[in-house]
Amino acid sequence: MEEIMRDLLLKYDAPVPRYTSYPTAPHFKDAPAQPDLAARLHAIPEEKSVSLYIHIPFCRHLCSYCGCHTKVVNEEKPISAYLDVVREEIKLTARAIGRRQRVSHIHFGGGTPNFAPTKDLEALLVLIAKEFTLAEQPVVAMEMDPRILHKDKVQSLVKLGVNRASLGVQDFHADVQQAINRVQPYEFVQQCVGWLREAGVRSINFDMIYGLPLQTSEKIHDGMKMLQTLKPERVALFGYAHVPWFKEHQKKLEAHPLPGTLERFDMAETARADLIAQGYVPVGIDHFALTEDDLAVAYKEHRLRRNFQGYTTDMEDYLIGFGQTAISDYGNAYVQNTAMNRDYREKVENGAFPAIKACILSAEDIYRRAVISEVMCYGSVDLAAVSGGADWAEKTWASAQKALQGYAADGLVNLGDKKTEITETGRPLTRLVASAFDAYLKPSGAAEAPRHAQAV
Ligand SMILES: C[S@@+](CC[C@H](N)C(=O)[O-])C[C@H]1O[C@@H](n2cnc3c(N)ncnc32)[C@H](O)[C@@H]1O
Ligand code: SF4
Repeated sequence: MEEIMRDLLLKYDAPVPRYTSYPTAPHFKDAPAQPDLAARLHAIPEEKSVSLYIHIPFCRHLCSYCGCHTKVVNEEKPISAYLDVVREEIKLTARAIGRRQRVSHIHFGGGTPNFAPTKDLEALLVLIAKEFTLAEQPVVAMEMDPRILHKDKVQSLVKLGVNRASLGVQDFHADVQQAINRVQPYEFVQQCVGWLREAGVRSINFDMIYGLPLQTSEKIHDGMKMLQTLKPERVALFGYAHVPWFKEHQKKLEAHPLPGTLERFDMAETARADLIAQGYVPVGIDHFALTEDDLAVAYKEHRLRRNFQGYTTDMEDYLIGFGQTAISDYGNAYVQNTAMNRDYREKVENGAFPAIKACILSAEDIYRRAVISEVMCYGSVDLAAVSGGADWAEKTWASAQKALQGYAADGLVNLGDKKTEITETGRPLTRLVASAFDAYLKPSGAAEAPRHAQAV
């Protein structure tokens, strides 16, 4: 690694948000009153399609690195009971909308949605088809844990309409897997991919993580060769976010030394170079897709969007989230559900929306969100070209200029008249550059620490 890159990484590796939303979740305030929540749903224009997200916060085992909202259970009963409540929440929502709104995307996230009993997932999808109008070919995506997937389950899920699968793979090496409490031999993953392909699933994503204990760049390189034999259409390559102040179980990972900033950078660059050599198109900061995959096509056609799962081809302006911690995006407002199981159940059973937090976006927030999205998706932005008004361009440029000039002096960006373009040197620090446009961050980013994980 060049010395100059080493110095820059060490200089700038401060905590920065991932910008899956803007404003980011720590800036959400109290949720509005119930009539307001109902009014937001009712105001969704009739001609608009919506996307649905269903959060299923249960897993069979706890991976020591996990930063997701989930709970370990060893039986299906609590999941069934939870999904009974989710169905009530869906009915409540559909009633507030007041019509069978068109749905184009359904995403099951978690936790481990494939841990949910098939009968409950079926009841959920039947209800969605009754309360909403499904598009002709809706995208139905599910996050899946290969360790608890079997052939029958894959066939049932596909029969229910699931047509995209995202498999949690993380790393292929036995010693790393033991260190993270997620033992999952290559053969498990290979078998799952076989079942999914056989059942007709044409879009498979692998979640991979770098920066875990005992990982090295050599192992990452080796892992990418193993990945190549299975050819998933997409790969999400996440940097391990170590946030033990928020997820105490992550302290277990400190039993082995965690890779430092420079090692993390080298791992990320190794994986990236390997994936590109295999024919994947890099999409945004951490996704890769085969050329013919929708995500690569959307990227090429400048239609890429950022959402809570990372990058998406989903073009809908409205996302309705169901379940604990799920976030709805109404374009001009985010509304997040409670994380508390009891609170969630009691509210829904009493006919109330289980929202706990919200963020009503100002015109400036909406403008800055579009700017940050451009940077996160495409690594460059022309403030004057972002819709929302020239006044915001002036103001945003003025507030970002000092930080950007510092980044330009270090070769991270090229600047023009209200234009910013991230250089190849700056690419690994894209989130940092995006943070220059974040009006909620103090210039150093220090006000956010330690809420976010490190920049690299
Ligand atoms: C809900 S899980 C995926 C489905 C399933 N639960 C599984 O793990 O197989 C979402 C993904 O988030 C990523 N993830 C979880 N905790 C993380 C952390 N602390 N840092 C980086 N990525 C993390 C993992 O790659 C994981 O696959
Ligand atoms: S990574 Fe996936 S399987 Fe592991 S604990 Fe987190 S949500 Fe559950």
